Amino acid sequence: MTISISRVVQSLEPSATLAMSAKAKELKAQGKTVYDLSVGEPDFVTPQHICDAGTAAMKSGYTKYTLASGIPELKKAIVEKYQTDYKLEYAPTQVVVSNGAKHSLHNIFFTTLNPGDEVIIPAPYWVSYAELVKLSGAVPVIIPTEEPQNFKMTATQLEQTITPQTKMLLLCNPSNPTGSVYNKDELTAIAEIVLEKNLFVLADEIYDKLVYGNQPFISFPTLFSGLPERTVVVNGVSKTYAMTGWRVGWTLSPEKLAKKMGELQSQETSNPCSISQYAALAALTGSQDCVVRMRTAFAERRDYVAKRIAGITGLSCPEMSGAFYVFFNIKHYLGQKLGGVPINNSEQFCLELLTQKQVATVMGSAFGCEGYVRASFAAGLDILEAAFDRITEFVNCRT
Ligand SMILES: Cc1ncc(COP(=O)(O)O)c(C=O)c1O
Repeated sequence: MTISISRVVQSLEPSATLAMSAKAKELKAQGKTVYDLSVGEPDFVTPQHICDAGTAAMKSGYTKYTLASGIPELKKAIVEKYQTDYKLEYAPTQVVVSNGAKHSLHNIFFTTLNPGDEVIIPAPYWVSYAELVKLSGAVPVIIPTEEPQNFKMTATQLEQTITPQTKMLLLCNPSNPTGSVYNKDELTAIAEIVLEKNLFVLADEIYDKLVYGNQPFISFPTLFSGLPERTVVVNGVSKTYAMTGWRVGWTLSPEKLAKKMGELQSQETSNPCSISQYAALAALTGSQDCVVRMRTAFAERRDYVAKRIAGITGLSCPEMSGAFYVFFNIKHYLGQKLGGVPINNSEQFCLELLTQKQVATVMGSAFGCEGYVRASFAAGLDILEAAFDRITEFVNCRT
């Protein structure tokens, strides 16, 4: 008998970001110089004091199972961070530490959603949200947003989309893939609807420390006193501390939910890597100078990328207030031939850009928004310069 694949996994879309990055690696293996702007990962190495804490953990024998939901020291540090940064009062029993924020998202969906429940997700959205929601048997309900509004969902749009089946609103702020950041008025209007309509909110705030310019970042549950009871905050060390490979993320939620997510995790994966947890502890409790240094570098790259996009005929992008992505409009080039090949959608644009000019980006369609392309600016200025020179050559090669 041959092994058959379950219906639910068959219906899963593979991650477009990882697929583009795999194609980029294939070209690299063929000896080509590839400028990879496809993956959302800081190019910096993990700061030394954090690596040292990982080494010390190994040397001290912290190489065994830990409490499935995370070591108490790290939970305490997370709670203290939210107290200091956002004046939010959580208890360590409200924290679950997982194998990256992606795992935290899985825990939330599987612990709270039943088949047929609706989860409202503003588009463009991060590639994994809709797939993870579908895996749990629930239904993603997408609210399209537009470039002139900086790709932000309005409270009116939210209100009009709610049905009796709506269970959850998923809000990614700052946004991957658009870099937009909600201001206080916008978030307050959304929060009022959330309270009025009795919704549960998943606030993915993994880019909270990567906000540029004068705009302050506002953590969703800080807006009204009733919000922490109906919000689960997702965060982690991947982006803020250049720790993508260490796999540490977490949730802050009502205690009842945290307990159940901890139980789910104890059956599915047990604890996140013990060594990584001690490294994450050092990240949170040590000097935050490394965060400032990396944010300053990202801000410089953001300004550079904005200038380059503005200098290419037909391309545009919204203001990038946070995260490290530019989501640029390519509609001007759809229906044209570039390098002799017809370009009718963002997937064709990205594939041809990679094949003809060896620049890896991700098609907007993967984020639920056709006519756009996402490029990460978590790469050195030299790489960005070369990549945007090639993007310019690509769009200028109309034949
Ligand atoms: C918005 C968003 N949430 C969650 C994650 C997952 O991060 P982690 O590496 O902690 O799993 C990512 C990673 O790209 C992301 O962009």
